[in-house]
Amino acid sequence: MKIAVIEYRKTPPATARELMKAIEVKGHTPVYLKAHLLDARLMNRSIEIYHGNEIVEVEGALLRNFGLFLNLDTFLKRLGVLEALANKIPVVNNPSATLITRDKWRCLLRLHLNNLPVPETLITENPFSAMRFTMEKKAVVYKPLMGSLGLGSTLIKDPDLSFQVTRSLKNLGLPSYYQVYLEKPGYDYRIFVVGDDAIGAMKRISNNWKTNIAQGAVGLPVRESEEPEPFQLALKATKVLGLDYAGVDVAYDVKTDKYYILEVNAFPHWEGLRKATGVNPPDAIVNHLINRIRK
Ligand SMILES: Nc1ncnc2c1ncn2[C@@H]1O[C@H](COP(=O)(O)OP(=O)(O)O)[C@@H](O)[C@H]1O
Ligand SMILES: [Mg+2]
Repeated sequence: MKIAVIEYRKTPPATARELMKAIEVKGHTPVYLKAHLLDARLMNRSIEIYHGNEIVEVEGALLRNFGLFLNLDTFLKRLGVLEALANKIPVVNNPSATLITRDKWRCLLRLHLNNLPVPETLITENPFSAMRFTMEKKAVVYKPLMGSLGLGSTLIKDPDLSFQVTRSLKNLGLPSYYQVYLEKPGYDYRIFVVGDDAIGAMKRISNNWKTNIAQGAVGLPVRESEEPEPFQLALKATKVLGLDYAGVDVAYDVKTDKYYILEVNAFPHWEGLRKATGVNPPDAIVNHLINRIRK
């Protein structure tokens, strides 16, 4: 079978290369498709997808990333072409589903609407709302709405600082996203879900309140039998969001004695998880797609 890996970079990054390798190892043919070269045509009774001048003929596709910092029109074009593709063949993750997790607010909103526990969170363009939230919660985390790897997230305890952050961002035409600061016991959980299974999970341990591996945290494997609750939350979250696979961040808060979902990544990295647990996500992801194609 021909199976596509979709990216926006000229040369495949490590994650895409690993997926292509896994496709090959299973006896199939990987095809690297660049999101900006994908076009779609509505025909009389069918839809055709092109990559440059060539018609795309693959039986399934793994979508990794269709571009950062796009203007709205280009973003909608790429999403629309991918949706057309996903109507013809299985695309993992489904492009529309990845859209919900593209920003942290809409992801948490969807989880909240499905009765899954998420930390108290504010999205606003109003400096006074930011200030009031910080006053009320005493400690909050400002996060870039579409950030990752912990970059740009800031712990704020001073209401005036959140006022100033939101006022400055507003002047740049940007909103602010704040979350109540959870008191974690020195770690959180990253659970990697593929299909209906949590294929691997780790505790990310750090002295820093940000427990991203990219921020220097150390990963230790954790099993569902040891701590079932974060696993159950991760599986439910992945299902509710309609994702085929995801990296789910769950934190335990000492103060409220509860678990909360921090975010769901539809394009998760896996290097840190593989090091900590020995599981190989590209293998599981490709198997999952092949099963979907064969169904
Ligand atoms: N509300 C919070 N309270 C305490 N720690 C948090 C909170 N939100 C995030 N963190 C810490 O920061 C890390 C990064 O936050 P996250 O929401 O996963 O964003 P990203 O990983 O995309 O940067 C988390 O893994 C966690 O360690
Ligand atoms: Mg995270």
